[in-house]
Amino acid sequence: MFIPEEKVSEILNTSDIVDIVSESVILKKSGRNFFGLCPFHSEKTPSFSVNPSKQIFHCFGCSAGGNVLTYVMKYHGLSFPEAVKMIARRYNIAIETRELDPEKRRQIQLKEKLFRLNNRVMQYYHNCLKSGSQSVEAREYLNQRGLSGDMVDEFKLGFSPDAWDSVVRQFKGFKTSKNAAVQSGLVLKRQQSDGYYDRFRNRIMFPIFDVNMQVAGFGGRVMDDAMPKYMNSPETPVYNKSRILYGLHAAKQHCRQQGILYIVEGYFDFLSLYQHGIKNTVATLGTALTPDHIRILKGYASKMVLVFDSDAAGISAAKRSIKLFGKEGVDTRVLVLPDGSDPDSYVVKYGQKAFKKLADGAKSVIPFLLKVSTDTHGLSVEGRIKILDDMKVHLSQIQDSALRSLHVKELAEILKIDEKAVLEKVRDQALNQSGKKGSLTGVEPVQEHPESDPREKQMISIMLNYPQILEDVRKTKVLDSFYSERLRRLGKKIANVTPGENAFITSVMASLDNDDDQSLIASLVIGDNFSEQNAHPAAQSIINRIIRVRKKNENILTNKIISAEKGSDSEWELLKLKQKEIQQLHEH
Ligand code: UTP
Ligand code: MN
Repeated sequence: MFIPEEKVSEILNTSDIVDIVSESVILKKSGRNFFGLCPFHSEKTPSFSVNPSKQIFHCFGCSAGGNVLTYVMKYHGLSFPEAVKMIARRYNIAIETRELDPEKRRQIQLKEKLFRLNNRVMQYYHNCLKSGSQSVEAREYLNQRGLSGDMVDEFKLGFSPDAWDSVVRQFKGFKTSKNAAVQSGLVLKRQQSDGYYDRFRNRIMFPIFDVNMQVAGFGGRVMDDAMPKYMNSPETPVYNKSRILYGLHAAKQHCRQQGILYIVEGYFDFLSLYQHGIKNTVATLGTALTPDHIRILKGYASKMVLVFDSDAAGISAAKRSIKLFGKEGVDTRVLVLPDGSDPDSYVVKYGQKAFKKLADGAKSVIPFLLKVSTDTHGLSVEGRIKILDDMKVHLSQIQDSALRSLHVKELAEILKIDEKAVLEKVRDQALNQSGKKGSLTGVEPVQEHPESDPREKQMISIMLNYPQILEDVRKTKVLDSFYSERLRRLGKKIANVTPGENAFITSVMASLDNDDDQSLIASLVIGDNFSEQNAHPAAQSIINRIIRVRKKNENILTNKIISAEKGSDSEWELLKLKQKEIQQLHEH
């Protein structure tokens, strides 16, 4: 698939990077730029910036950067044409595509085909549930679990008939290829004989939507005590367990509005809370939360409450989350529901208000673990020692030293143990842990190139932000004196861009074909410390300086060559070579 260049520039000129990034990152305006937590690496303080006038983003932490297309590709894991299409759809820009890389094309077509199949099967399951005598039990089951008809419709719940070939026959009707049918995960190949059979039979079906409302996969529940209770789609080209969260497509706007979200485990937990008006909820579907999940979620809210139905589950999740959430700078709380309830049964029994009240009392991770430990051991002398032993493990994992010392202080007060003694325990523990992992000493720091000059970057930054300087750059041939081969190459590209209808930066970005170059250029656009008034003189002094320094180095080199003529042959050869290189640079 090939997208004509005019279309790409139309997209770059029509779209707004702040709009697009805001869909996945909470942005706050500060001066000329917007800032937020970077979606591409773990961080607690915002170093991810978006510049609306230049239409680029840049992270000062991980140095990811680029334009709106780079962002969409990176964030959604899309190819270039997929990203173009996604933005085009959003701004109602029609694109015709020409064909190119056949392998890429096949992958994209397969994904589109799978989404289409899933969508049709979702519709089929939904129809099966809504009418017919086969699904009487299913309708009764949902009714008895208190789910309203509106919810069934909004989340397109369905029913997979009690047969081996319902979907197989649907697929035949759609003329689906065998390959696509199997890749969808909805049917499986028979082991003993020819043919295929349905994966989901006689189950209540839950379509799983991605954030763009496309059906990525399914979950299915039996209506009795049969095992397994739930079955889910396998991983497919469109269903990735570690990234998908049930209900996010519907919950995202509510999470945004409220700044807080609940993370529950199951389909019914999500649906019941949602039906009871607690719409800022997502479900993990029984798998452990992954760093990807958290990165996706923190684009919607900065506070998260993990809701669990038992102490044991809550404790193990809380322990895991110290590291996971701590790194992401998310305010995390743990809510363990009273014995025997899960979020679904609790809200059905006690209602929304009671749930909200419990949730308001949810404790942060460390206080939660402390409460569990004190409940277990009591506050006798032996009990307090055991609590300290439990807590030192958790405290030693907190990366933020200020936060850690706050908790140490608190723990010391509660246990009535001297703060220094607590601190020592935590330190010992931390040392033990790092000892086990093998220390990092002995790793050589990366050597800076001896001949590198920060002015070269400043020069490029000025060229990007004040293109009126380009004429001087061309005339003085300053780029030829750059030490950095990469900056010289990029500088030449920039100098060759003629600002046409497009904004200059947009044109520069479009002329770059690799991610790393885009990131570097974005960082240099954003890292602009000059003003309209001083850019020109600053540029001229940088140009002079670069050229002078190189001249001086050349002279030193010449002198060295002269003195080396009396010394060893090899040193002399080396220096001569070097001088030749420098001369060649100037001959361009
Ligand atoms: P639970 O066993 O807690 O069930 O599993 P639940 O959500 O309360 O289900 P109900 O109320 O009995 O209907 C939590 C989640 O773990 C996943 C499902 O996503 C489920 O909702 N799970 C559970 C499976 O994937 N497979 C299973 O066999 C069980
Ligand atoms: Mn349940």
